[in-house]
Amino acid sequence: MTKITVIGAGNVGATTVQRIAELQLGDIVMTDVVDGLPQGKALDLMQAAPVMGYDIDILGTTDYADIADSDVVVITAGIARKPGMSRDDLLSINSKITTEVCGNIAEYAPHAIVITVTNPLDIMTYVTLKTTGFEHNRVFGMSGVLDSSRFATFIAMELGCSIRDVDAMVLGGHGDSMVPVPEYTTIYGIPMSQLMPKETVERLVQRTINGGAEIVEYLKTGSAFYAPSASVAKMVEAVVKDSKRILPCAAYLQGEYNESDVYLGVPVKLGKNGIENIIELELTDGQLRALSNSAAGVREEIAKLQQ
Ligand code: APR
Repeated sequence: MTKITVIGAGNVGATTVQRIAELQLGDIVMTDVVDGLPQGKALDLMQAAPVMGYDIDILGTTDYADIADSDVVVITAGIARKPGMSRDDLLSINSKITTEVCGNIAEYAPHAIVITVTNPLDIMTYVTLKTTGFEHNRVFGMSGVLDSSRFATFIAMELGCSIRDVDAMVLGGHGDSMVPVPEYTTIYGIPMSQLMPKETVERLVQRTINGGAEIVEYLKTGSAFYAPSASVAKMVEAVVKDSKRILPCAAYLQGEYNESDVYLGVPVKLGKNGIENIIELELTDGQLRALSNSAAGVREEIAKLQQ
């Protein structure tokens, strides 16, 4: 049986476990620093199994020995954004948490594929790579699936069309510098620009960039978790089922898109080895510039951590 570990039993972590259980992707271990939290939520989720019909084990624990030999590890441990906080405000505290978590992953689950969710995403994924010492195809971040899903949602809401016909693409950093790409965003193959005026495209792009913050403003005490957990589950499924899905993920670049030694959201092929290849799209000069700005922002934050 495939073994999937989710670190962090908070909103994103526990909802991710629920989704992975309902998709029956494998046995699940959920960990947290707060004793009782992962145990209680795991037991609650196990008691939903007879109703929902999933036939897998869910273990809640605070002991890292229980994650031994996981095939996939998802990191959601950290603090979430509060109103007025940017993802970058989370930098220092979440990097300490990620470093501690990754030491344990390297020790107990040295062959795992690791998906980082903790924000600021691109930087925490870089910290994950460096502190686990794993190969870069095994370490990537959840960003583009969520951002593209938000973009698609706003497009379907605007057009009053089925969400099933919208294919949206968002690249770049998972933050204010993300790069929604209307040219690669279609409604049943029709470029979005043919179905709405330029100003509407721009408005939806801006709403997507602000998508996480809009939810933080509503919730006041935390950040989004339903769409983030759905996005993680989709990525875990692609790995576990080796389905070679083409999805935008935060991937380690080594020359692609003219960037190196940095994580950025780009389309990749996801399978049992993690990122099997990075797809280089033809982009306009403006989009390339936006990507390069995004990368510069991520590098700046990484440099702050290294000071
Ligand atoms: N080890 C394990 N778990 C930890 C650690 C640690 N060192 N430090 C904190 N945690 C746990 C907390 O106890 C909490 O249960 O991480 C969990 C985080 O849960 P929430 O506060 O509910 O945050 P959540 O909404 O799940 O977001 C988690 O994902 O989307 C990102 O920006 C978000 O960085 C944030 C992360």
